Amino acid sequence: MLSEEVELVEPPKKSVVVGTGKGGVGKSTVGAHLAAHCAEQGERTLLVCVTSQDDDDLGIKEFGRGVQPDGLPVMDGQGLYRSISERIPLVPVRDVRPNLDVVPGGVMVGELVPLLMARLMGHDGPGVVLSLARALQPIAPFYDRIVFDSAPENDSLEQLALAAGRHLFVPTRSDASSIRGMGRIARNFKVVRRQANPWLRVAGAFLYASNPTAVQLHAQVKEDIRATLGDGTPILSTIVGYREKPAVNARRKGLLFNEYAELLPKSAKSYDVAAGRARVEDVVPEAIVGLAADMRQLNLEILDYSKKAAE
Ligand SMILES: Nc1ncnc2c1ncn2[C@@H]1O[C@H](COP(=O)(O)OP(=O)(O)OP(=O)(O)O)[C@@H](O)[C@H]1O
Ligand SMILES: [Mg+2]
Repeated sequence: MLSEEVELVEPPKKSVVVGTGKGGVGKSTVGAHLAAHCAEQGERTLLVCVTSQDDDDLGIKEFGRGVQPDGLPVMDGQGLYRSISERIPLVPVRDVRPNLDVVPGGVMVGELVPLLMARLMGHDGPGVVLSLARALQPIAPFYDRIVFDSAPENDSLEQLALAAGRHLFVPTRSDASSIRGMGRIARNFKVVRRQANPWLRVAGAFLYASNPTAVQLHAQVKEDIRATLGDGTPILSTIVGYREKPAVNARRKGLLFNEYAELLPKSAKSYDVAAGRARVEDVVPEAIVGLAADMRQLNLEILDYSKKAAE
């Protein structure tokens, strides 16, 4: 989207983009948990989902969490789309958790791509990449922390998020296509930083959803990360383990890992299912405890590295 000079918009000081150019590596999971963690620590936090998936880690759509704004609908990316297309401030769903507001993603975010392209060719020119940064500007002072979840495999949407945030964190899995996905964000990072957001930094990269004992594999992935994102890329030490069942169940229930873990003591057990007293979906997997602990550790480390990047 970029080629000529644009009028810059400084991103909020404590803003984080979770992004990589590969789908399904954990961006939305980490984005939602990081935002909720900051909110729980007392920061007024905004999560902006620049993605056409309507993953509902916080239970906004499925379980009606949060206060919908009066007037026009904002779910399924409609709010984000409208703000950018009508050049008006973002309108979040409020109080999804205490201190946490969310601009939900969804199918309408995909509709931004042709809109941005038309504007790029028309009157707006390359400044179109700052559309989200501008829509955020009027409401940013209400928040202590802003977290952007980003879309995979789409340069325009990825650039939109990168132009609006300050610290980029790149999750990856260990497979070759995840590593290639980092190549895409590395290219978009460079072009956005050069032309639209000189404040942007790669604040860290991390391996997500992997077996913590696969030490040799991890050493290889670290090399791949540095070869792709640059030698100086900080690499986080926390590796959230691969635990599909509790992760998928938690999302289905619109609960964060720590919230889902709290249900464990009162959960039905496998023997209750066998005896016909409970359904399989009522059993909270015990692995949720370790998953919640890993995620908390990752959130703390992300915030630590974000602080370092600001120094
Ligand atoms: N630690 C984990 N172990 C196993 N599976 C996980 C873990 N964390 C999240 N998942 C699951 O992995 C899948 C992909 O995660 P997520 O949606 O966060 O990735 P994403 O990068 O945002 O994907 P997309 O590119 O499609 O937006 C989801 O089904 C999620 O529930
Ligand atoms: Mg996602």
